[in-house]
Amino acid sequence: MADILKTVTAGQVDVDRLPRHIAIIMDGNGRWATRRGLPRTAGHKAGAETFRRIATYCKNLGVQYLTVYAFSTENWKRSADEVGTIMGLLKRYLQEAVATMERDNIRLHFFGDMSPIDPELQALARETDEITEHLGADAFQANVCLNYGGRDEILRAARRFAEDCAAGKCAADELDDALFSSYLDSAGIPDPELIIRPSGELRLSNFLLWQCAYSEFYYTDVLWPDFDEAELEKAIVAYQARDRRFGGVKK
Ligand code: IPE
Ligand code: IPE
Ligand code: MG
Repeated sequence: MADILKTVTAGQVDVDRLPRHIAIIMDGNGRWATRRGLPRTAGHKAGAETFRRIATYCKNLGVQYLTVYAFSTENWKRSADEVGTIMGLLKRYLQEAVATMERDNIRLHFFGDMSPIDPELQALARETDEITEHLGADAFQANVCLNYGGRDEILRAARRFAEDCAAGKCAADELDDALFSSYLDSAGIPDPELIIRPSGELRLSNFLLWQCAYSEFYYTDVLWPDFDEAELEKAIVAYQARDRRFGGVKK
């Protein structure tokens, strides 16, 4: 076992039964800042650091996919200052990623409708997509949900399928789980076994509505900027104690 695993897992997490795909609703940045008398934007800066830490930890642990909810289709309701700060932090993260993802063997992918996103950010996302294409399919992959909504994703997929039917490329009666999944932003990526929501809110807020069908949910009151490696371990340990039946009965 790699040294890093010995130190980080402290014998609690069973590294042979890790979820292949973990998804996180990165929530609680605003409350974290407000409690410290800071502007909400300071919470987003701290939250961005937590994302870097947790992504590195997932990669080192051997989780293959980490999907994070960074900005929802509903988050445009916030002030221009707050939205601008979040987009600025994403831009900085992508600039770093362009410089380091090849060296670190990290694939990066976006879920969401990128069309209303700042062109500079879109160009950076295209650059990271190109780098990702050159990296091996078994490399760690981070999926960032940006202007993402589960309903919007399903609607965009349905529209594209209808267009393909109209163009004679496929027929309505061919549509099954697998074919529909191939039209989603998550095409080719297994569904998350574990979805984590920090900050105490007990809802999905339009996250991965199709993919969560049989995900295990883990909620904690810890705010995202305070979420750390130990908290992630707690979530994985809880996941490993679950009895996943998928509608069947235990033998
Ligand atoms: C999550 O933190 C980040 C985004 C939604 C972009 P919030 O900003 O929602 O933090 P709270 O929920 O207000 O504390
Ligand atoms: C969900 O959190 C979206 C992200 C974390 C990006 P919100 O803070 O927007 O969700 P609600 O408003 O509490 O449901
Ligand atoms: Mg929130």
